[in-house]
Amino acid sequence: MNQTPLIQVPVITVDGPSGSGKGTVSQRLAAELGWHFLDSGALYRLLACAARRDGIGLNDEAALAALADRIDAEFTFSPSGEERVLLDGEDVTRTLRSEETGNAASQVAALPAVRTALLAWQRRYRRPPGLVADGRDMGTVVFPDAALKIFLEARPEERAYRRHKQLKEKGINTSLEAVVAEVRARDERDRTRATAPLVPAEDACIIDSSDLGIDATLALILDRVHGKI
Ligand code: C5P
Repeated sequence: MNQTPLIQVPVITVDGPSGSGKGTVSQRLAAELGWHFLDSGALYRLLACAARRDGIGLNDEAALAALADRIDAEFTFSPSGEERVLLDGEDVTRTLRSEETGNAASQVAALPAVRTALLAWQRRYRRPPGLVADGRDMGTVVFPDAALKIFLEARPEERAYRRHKQLKEKGINTSLEAVVAEVRARDERDRTRATAPLVPAEDACIIDSSDLGIDATLALILDRVHGKI
């Protein structure tokens, strides 16, 4: 009997440290291609918010993994393009993007059982016609068969400066020095953890965005996309 081959939905992964520009670039890439978009960092952030709400410690691996299996998240955009995130029906948009939540997310993200619990959730985003997945381990662990893997880098000072600007635009006031310290601490934890550390996949295309604007970075990636897909 002839079996129809299973055609996998194509995925483009965009990994890199915070402030490398990967969030904006991958969102725009998804819009350009008309593909779905996965902000995997937001899932770790949501889990950290839910843990705080439920009084679960950031190192209670079993409780956090169980929590990941039962939380319900909804991502929506207002007509003006502003993101709104609901966690079990509660609007957590503002808390979600704070540096404090980013730090808590990076602590829960270091726990292997949490990463396993989030795998299926992330893979459910792979739907036709395609997916752009933004994170730290999209190309290495979650979608190792991705059609194209991008790893976006930028100098640490530049990344901290961008994060600080982004936070200010969102009305979150914090000093540049505090953001530099937080970006460094988070990077260190993400790069050195035992499970799914932040490293480029062997077949990733590495782009340094330090001296490139978003448009130029996106154009570079689109060149690669058209060569591959
Ligand atoms: O990208 P974002 O800053 O929202 O991610 C928050 C934290 O979640 C990261 O510092 C990282 O520790 C964790 N994360 C991860 N793997 C991903 C995405 C995010 O470990 N794929």
